[in-house]
Amino acid sequence: MISEKMQNAFLDQINKELYSEYLYLSMKAYFTSLNLNGFANWMDCQVKEERAHAMGMFDYVLERGGNVELEAIEKPDTKWASPLAVFKQVLSHEEYVTSRINALMDVADETKDRAALIFLNWYLKEQVEEEATAGGILAQLELIGDDKHALFALDKELAQRVFNPPVIG
Ligand code: FEO
Repeated sequence: MISEKMQNAFLDQINKELYSEYLYLSMKAYFTSLNLNGFANWMDCQVKEERAHAMGMFDYVLERGGNVELEAIEKPDTKWASPLAVFKQVLSHEEYVTSRINALMDVADETKDRAALIFLNWYLKEQVEEEATAGGILAQLELIGDDKHALFALDKELAQRVFNPPVIG
């Protein structure tokens, strides 16, 4: 049985993962409006990943005998100045999510919930990947600057991304 403190920390994180899904969905709409369909595809994969992250925790809390009560999801931004501005936000958002996973692991430590710690290891490793991917695209956009040809080349590359449902845990 999961402790109430650990359960509530997971519920808070489920809300943040669902907010991440919402934020990336909003970013997908922004890129689609610019006809950058490769960037939009990249965001669509990200949307599906975030839903999978939320559902992994949702299923875990229930598996451990906890209750899931969902909260309202915050409204995401809807406008950005440029693709560069979007990816600056993606990276800082993922860094924030990493800090929240670390905070969740602190609660697991405090409550001596070793099972939760093992479960959360997957999320921590995933965050290393998330930050590296977002940081890589951000670095490319910084190099691209105002070069539209290079931007369209990157768009073509991002069109190749395929969503593979993660195996969590
Ligand atoms: Fe669920 Fe992008 O972290």
